[in-house]
Amino acid sequence: MINALTIKKDFPIFSRKIDGRPIIYLDNAATTQKPRQVVEAIVNYYYNFNSNIHRGIYRLSEEATDLYEKSRENVEGFIGAGKDGTVVFVRNATEALNLVAAEYSRNLEPGDEVILSTMEHHSNLVPWQFLQEKGVVLKFVDLTPDWELNMDQLETLLTPRTKVVSITHVSNVLGTINPVKEIGKMAHENSAIFVLDGAQSVPHMPVDVSTIGCDFMAFSGHKMLGPSGIGGLYGRKDYLDHMHPYMGGGEMIKQVWKEHATWNDVPQKFEAGTPNIEGAIGLSAAVDYLRNLGMENVRSHERELIGYALELEEDLKIPGLRSYGPRNLDVRGGVYTFNIGDIPTFDLEMEMMSRGIRITGNGIHPHDVAQSLDRDNIAVRSGHHCAMPLMNELGVAATSRASFYIYNAREDVEKLFDGIRMTERAYAK
Ligand SMILES: Cc1ncc(COP(=O)(O)O)c(C=O)c1O
Repeated sequence: MINALTIKKDFPIFSRKIDGRPIIYLDNAATTQKPRQVVEAIVNYYYNFNSNIHRGIYRLSEEATDLYEKSRENVEGFIGAGKDGTVVFVRNATEALNLVAAEYSRNLEPGDEVILSTMEHHSNLVPWQFLQEKGVVLKFVDLTPDWELNMDQLETLLTPRTKVVSITHVSNVLGTINPVKEIGKMAHENSAIFVLDGAQSVPHMPVDVSTIGCDFMAFSGHKMLGPSGIGGLYGRKDYLDHMHPYMGGGEMIKQVWKEHATWNDVPQKFEAGTPNIEGAIGLSAAVDYLRNLGMENVRSHERELIGYALELEEDLKIPGLRSYGPRNLDVRGGVYTFNIGDIPTFDLEMEMMSRGIRITGNGIHPHDVAQSLDRDNIAVRSGHHCAMPLMNELGVAATSRASFYIYNAREDVEKLFDGIRMTERAYAK
């Protein structure tokens, strides 16, 4: 069981008060706060081990190399990489997805197909759009009325030309948890590879890539208690071995001549230049922290919070309040995305803005909602959440989004709904 109030004590930022009141942080899908244990691991590295890795034949460098590589092993263990897979350290999930799209796609030919979904974050969309220049065709799985992936449609989209299926594990807007094992099986039966965007799942639930059966998976350290600037690309070694390096430079080579070079082994082949050593060490400390809590417990805690949010929504009947995402908690992560009243579509908003007219429909613009909640120190995200195609599908330019994590308690959810109620009342006047 998770005790949010005890956990909160590990996070120095929560001892800060703004205008004399505590911070209610509900923007965890964007980034999470950092526990003391993570910050201390980074400080300890700087105070006692700072040096460049892999190349130094002296004690500090050997120790730093050891810390870096042990961090990799720890992260690999956390996601169940097994002996056939590895983790390449990258900056974030975005870089991981770009790496796969750019380098795996060298195998693709004009007319080959990549299947994505309507709920993808731009990070798992735009890198694949680049491939259209070489004639690759993008296809999209849409949503059911229950905000889940339309699996029947996926079946019909798969063809002998499908080479990649790349889907998010959990939607950062709807909170939908996708049936990734089934998707992977369908992709493989069709001889396509399965790329998983784990940015919103690895921090929040048990994720085991070997059980899921994905070929690649992207995730970000800063969304799982770790520092910014470090993330991972899990990949099957046999694929990575045959892929071209993403960037050239130091570390990623074995031997270099004037005209050509040979590549280092995987994963170093994909880690050109001095890596984010302290980032990897901080991420490893974050993994220890989460492992200690137990990922099953993390998931049940968030399930309880989102369940409570949906309950309050139904009980309070705040005029105009509507939320987006599955009501079935088995397939719902801890993300509560909502609007108050009708919000214009993005196209309409742009059109009116170009005419100098600000319209809000009869609703309260999500930016105004976020600003209003901020008065009570409630931090939520508002905007398109880097998922513009999904916003178009919802028929709105933007939404507000509260996203929960281990240090949020039921009281935080209550404060969120108090804030929403106050906001609605204030605007109704
Ligand atoms: C589902 C999903 N994928 C990818 C990303 C990109 O993560 P990052 O900005 O850390 O690269 C995000 C970030 O919000 C996300 O929610």
